[in-house]
Order: sequence, then structure tokens, then C-alpha cells
Amino acid sequence: MNVLELHAVSRDHGAGAGLVHALAGIGLSVAAGEFVAVMGPSGSGKSTLLTLAGGLDAPTSGRVVIEGTDLGTLGRSGLSALRRRHVGYVFQDLNLIPGLTAIENVMLPRELDGAGTRRARREAALALREVGVDELADQFPDEMSGGQQQRVAIARALVGDRRLVLADEPTGALDSNTGEDVMRLLRARCDAGAACLMVTHESRHAAWSDRVVFLRDGRMVDTTGSRSGPETLLQDVR
Ligand SMILES: Nc1ncnc2c1ncn2[C@@H]1O[C@H](COP(=O)(O)OP(=O)(O)OP(=O)(O)O)[C@@H](O)[C@H]1O
Ligand SMILES: [Mg+2]
Repeated sequence: MNVLELHAVSRDHGAGAGLVHALAGIGLSVAAGEFVAVMGPSGSGKSTLLTLAGGLDAPTSGRVVIEGTDLGTLGRSGLSALRRRHVGYVFQDLNLIPGLTAIENVMLPRELDGAGTRRARREAALALREVGVDELADQFPDEMSGGQQQRVAIARALVGDRRLVLADEPTGALDSNTGEDVMRLLRARCDAGAACLMVTHESRHAAWSDRVVFLRDGRMVDTTGSRSGPETLLQDVR
């Protein structure tokens, strides 16, 4: 069962001489339980791919399907309901809400989905514990280190058992030990049945995945099982 399918997905920005093909003709499926890493140089379209996969932006052409639903058939409210229910997102720039504490940030997607405050709080506390920062529950983002904020952002993506986890360089602000912990968490989520698509620049993080997809200039230039050695292919895309 594929949690995510991209069919011939393209995304253009601008027009005329300023036209940029941020993504061109991407076909990709991520099954339940599968962990896929996305690699490629800066500007190759990695963040664009994740934004489209999470329904935060619409493709110029092609189809994005999550849990069997073609996002192009949904109106705005249907799309945001599907996103809240199925998609956890760790943004490249975190996007924690500054006026909310850690636990409130993590509760928010569950409350928006109608979970009720008490249940949302219980689930958020569990997610914070899962990423090892339950003692930070009542702190505000500006009272935390970058690495702590990163973990809270990851807890927000995992809360409520969402089946599609999209992570854009989730280890960016973390030291290498904490980065490995994050990989272990994402791997465990996939082993428990989630589908995960993660952008990373680091081959040792890609090594936790089942498969690596390489982008260059908005095109998929290669895909490989991580065990066959991303390093050799990486030299090619760098
Ligand atoms: N809103 C936008 N308007 C115009 N161009 C855009 C927009 N968003 C992205 N692009 C362009 O699309 C291309 C892909 O950008 P994207 O952010 O997906 O790259 P990336 O692989 O995530 O890069 P990085 O590793 O630096 O995060 C780039 O050429 C970028 O300049
Ligand atoms: Mg990016």
C-alpha cells in the first residue's frame, strides 16, 4: 500500500525569461513502512518536492496522491483536513509558533483536528517524551537551543500517529549524536508503518533509509537502495 504517490509531477515558478522548472516530471511512490531519503545540490528541488508531497503547494502539472486520495480533487478545507490527519511535516526552518510553549506547539495539529484539549495534551506529552524533551513542555521556543527546538518540531510531526512524515533536513541544527537519535526515531516510525520522505545532505543519515532519490535541476537523476552505497552516486550529484 502506497501512502504517497507522485505521478509526473512538475512545478514551475515565474514566467518568461524568469521561468524556473523547480521540479520536472517526478514519479515517486513511498509505501507504508518505507523510509526514503532525498539528496541533491542546493536548488535542485528537494524542498519543492516535500512541499508538493505534503499538499502545501500544488503542482503545475501531474498528480499527488496521499492514502489513495488525489489532492487535486480536494477543495481547500478537504485538503487541510487530509493534511492534518495524515501528514507530519518538519520544515527546513522549523516554524515553531513563538507565542506557544513546546507542548502547545505539539498539541496544535491535534486540536485543529478536533482531538479535544485533554487528549491532545496527553498525545503531545508522549511525543515530547519520544524525542527526549518532555522536560521542556512549558518552555517557549526562544528559551530553547536550536537542537531542542528541532526536537520539538519533530515531536509536532510525529504526534497523533500520522502516516506520512515529511522532513526537510531534520538534523540541520543538531550535533551528530542527536542527529543519529533523530534518524533512529524516524526509522522506528517507519518500522511501525509510517511512510517517511526525508531531505538530507548527509550520506550517513541517508544510510538509515531504504532508498535514496537523487535530484538535480528538478529532475530525478537516480535512485538506489542505500545499502548499495550512496557515496559513489553522491560524488556524481555534488
Ligand atoms: N517561490 C518560489 N519562487 C521562485 N522560485 C522558486 C520558489 N521556490 C523555489 N524556487 C526555485 O526552485 C528551485 C528549487 O528550490 P528548492 O528550494 O526546492 O531547492 P532545494 O533543493 O530545497 O535547495 P536547498 O538545498 O538550498 O534547500 C530553485 O531554483 C529555487 O530558486
Ligand atoms: Mg531546501
